Amino acid sequence: MAEKKRTFAVLTGGGDCPGLNAVISAVVKTFLNNGCEVYGIQNGFHGLVMDTMKKLEYADVSGILYRGGTVLGTTNRDNPFKFAEEVNGELVYSDKSEVVKANLEKHGIETLVVIGGDGSLNIGAELSRKTGVKVVGCPKTIDNDLSCTERTFGFDTAVAMATEAVDRLHSTAESHHRVMALEVMGRYAGWIALHSGIAGGADIILLPEIPYKMESILAEIKQRREQGKEFSIIVVAEGAKPEGGEMTVARMVKGSFEPIRLGGVGEKLVREIEELTGIESRCTVLGYLQRGGSPTAFDRILCTRYGVAAAEACLRGEHNVMASLSNDNIVMVDLQRAAAASRQVPLDNDLIKAGRQIGVCFGD
Ligand code: F6P
Repeated sequence: MAEKKRTFAVLTGGGDCPGLNAVISAVVKTFLNNGCEVYGIQNGFHGLVMDTMKKLEYADVSGILYRGGTVLGTTNRDNPFKFAEEVNGELVYSDKSEVVKANLEKHGIETLVVIGGDGSLNIGAELSRKTGVKVVGCPKTIDNDLSCTERTFGFDTAVAMATEAVDRLHSTAESHHRVMALEVMGRYAGWIALHSGIAGGADIILLPEIPYKMESILAEIKQRREQGKEFSIIVVAEGAKPEGGEMTVARMVKGSFEPIRLGGVGEKLVREIEELTGIESRCTVLGYLQRGGSPTAFDRILCTRYGVAAAEACLRGEHNVMASLSNDNIVMVDLQRAAAASRQVPLDNDLIKAGRQIGVCFGD
C-alpha cells in the first residue's frame, strides 16, 4: 500500500496585502516539490471552522506570483475562539477551536501555515497554545508593525504606492500654491508615512508616535513661504494625533479581530490649516490603493523567501514559529513572542533622525 503523504495546509487571514499570492505560491510549490500534499483553506479562519478547504495542485498556484490579493480569499472577522453565527436573527459567539482541530485532523494535516498580521498570528498562537494545533506563521501587513521581524511583506509595495502619490501631489500643490496632505494607512504605527514621506520629499511628516502641535506645522508652512516656496506637502499617518488629543476613528467594525478603523485625520488637519492661514489646503486619502495590485520586486523576493522558509520549517517538524527577516537573513522566531506585541516606529529611528537633519518637520 502506498505510504500516506505528509499533508499541510495554508491560509491567509486579516486584511489583504500585496504579496499574499507570492507567499502562497512559494509555500505550495515547496510542499509539492518535496512530495507532500497541501490544502488551501478558503477565507482564512472561516474556512477552517466551516471545513472549506481544497487540495492545491501546481496549476492552482502557477502564474499567481505577481498578482495582488489572495487566491485563497481572506477575512478579518472570523476568530475561531469567538466565532459568530446567526441564530434567530441574532449573532451568537462561541468557541470553535476544537472544531478547527478536528477539521485539521480529519484531513490528516500536520501543520498549518498562517499568513497574517498580528490578528491572525495571535489566533494562530492561541490555537497552538490551547489546542496543540501546529502552526507556522508568515508576517504579512502593509503596516510593518509586527515585532520580531525587520520587515513584513507588503510594506515595500505600500510605500512605493504612497511615494508615487507624494510625487504626483507635488506638481499640483506647486501649481496651485496649496498645502496638500496625503493620508496613508498604518494603524497605530507610522512606518508607511515615515518611509513614503522621506522617499517623496515631504515637508511635514506626522506619525502616531510623535503627537503634533499645530503651531509647529504652521511655522513650517510660514517659513517655506518666506523662502519663496508657496506650497507644502504633508504626509500624515491615519493614526497621527495632536498633542493631548486622540486618534481619529473612522468607524467601528463589529466582529473584527480589531474593531477600530482609523481615518479622517488628514481632512481635519487641512481644514484647520486653511482656517488658520487662509492658504487653500486639500487632503487626499490613499486608502486601499496601498493594499491592492502587484507587489514590488522586493516584496516578491521577500514573499518567496518567507514562503519557502515557512514550508521548510514545517518539513523539519518545527511549529509555533514565524519566518522573520533579520540582517537580511530569514530566520524562524518564536510565534508566541512575535504575536504578543506590535511594533511602532522608535523615536530614535534612523530615518526620523535623517529627516530632522534634512529639515523635515515632524510636527513636534
Ligand atoms: O492592517 C492593514 C490595514 O490596511 C491598516 O493600515 C488599516 O488601518 C486597516 O487595515 C483597514 O482595515 P479594513 O480593511 O478593515 O478597512
